Amino acid sequence: MKKVLTGIKPTGIAHLGNYFGAIKPAIELSKNSEYQCYYFIADYHALTTVQNKEELYEYTYQIACTWLACGLDPEKVVLYKQSDVPQTFELSTILSNLTPKGLMNRAHAYKAKVEVNEEAGEDKDNGINMGLYCYPILMTADILLLDSDLVPVGIDQKQHIEIARDVAGYFNKKFGNTFKLPQELIAENVGVLVGVDGRKMSKSYGNTIPIFADEGKLKKLVNRIVTDSTAPDEPKTLDNTIFKLYKLFGTKQQTDEFAERLQKGISWGEAKSELFTLMNNYLSPMREKYNYLQSHREIVDEILKKGGEKARQIAQNTILKVRNAIGVVDIK
Ligand code: ADP
Ligand code: TRP
Repeated sequence: MKKVLTGIKPTGIAHLGNYFGAIKPAIELSKNSEYQCYYFIADYHALTTVQNKEELYEYTYQIACTWLACGLDPEKVVLYKQSDVPQTFELSTILSNLTPKGLMNRAHAYKAKVEVNEEAGEDKDNGINMGLYCYPILMTADILLLDSDLVPVGIDQKQHIEIARDVAGYFNKKFGNTFKLPQELIAENVGVLVGVDGRKMSKSYGNTIPIFADEGKLKKLVNRIVTDSTAPDEPKTLDNTIFKLYKLFGTKQQTDEFAERLQKGISWGEAKSELFTLMNNYLSPMREKYNYLQSHREIVDEILKKGGEKARQIAQNTILKVRNAIGVVDIK
């Protein structure tokens, strides 16, 4: 059985980009009985930016409830917190010794920050912590520790999986065949979802539509979506955020009919109202489940506890293999 693994950082409220780019494809995959899935909350990854006790705590529950409310079945999927698998941090230390520093210099999250610093005339490493710099190594440890074959992620994470594959390869070459080489799995039909302002939907841009926004907030956000200045009865092109979102929520038939109406010419106001209704129908059962779990955290705790135990067992087997491969003395 193939092993599928992915993680989400608890850095803020999950939005539709996270849902369509990462959560939904991962949950679809878990319905296939050929896959054993391991999905986790990457709480130590969040620490590069979330350095506030209450925030980390709340965001962690938010992501756990998000996975469950979006349809993750805890009987099939092992759902856990990264922090409950301490072997991750041992493997990360080991792997850092096999990772060329140059590879980390080229990792895109670090490189992007360096570029911002250079443009501002600052020291290139200004405000950059080692957590961010070594981020791909920690991620490699997550992936290799659970013996993953496939890693479903959004396109922006592709480079990280390539790094994991490279590092696994370096290790195998030096110490003998120990790790599988993981493969990324990108949801091709989603691409990058745009936010209400037309840029990539991202927590960092403040342009997101949260998955579980209440009805009133959802309506407001849909109304805020930027459109062009086409007059109400003029034909609309399909290259707009409203249609792109509609396509993700609607069936093929609904989408075709909506496309036809747009091309004939309905007002943006009407189009937004139709989009809102479609989204709200889709999202409201999930929102209810989310709110229920948020107020019954003992259910979530129980699931995470069991998941952590299962993940730790696999992790322990891997770490023993790794220790043995590198020559750590094992006193019985
Ligand atoms: P953010 O940019 O909001 O901080 P994250 O970096 O935490 O989002 O991303 C979590 C997951 O969601 C990743 O797998 C990422 O690829 C996916 N993702 C985030 N934003 C989008 C988007 N706008 N479109 C598609 N996928 C996205
Ligand atoms: N880096 C991923 C993100 O920013 C989250 C993550 C951490 C992850 N560890 C992982 C994803 C392992 C896949 C596999 O979205």
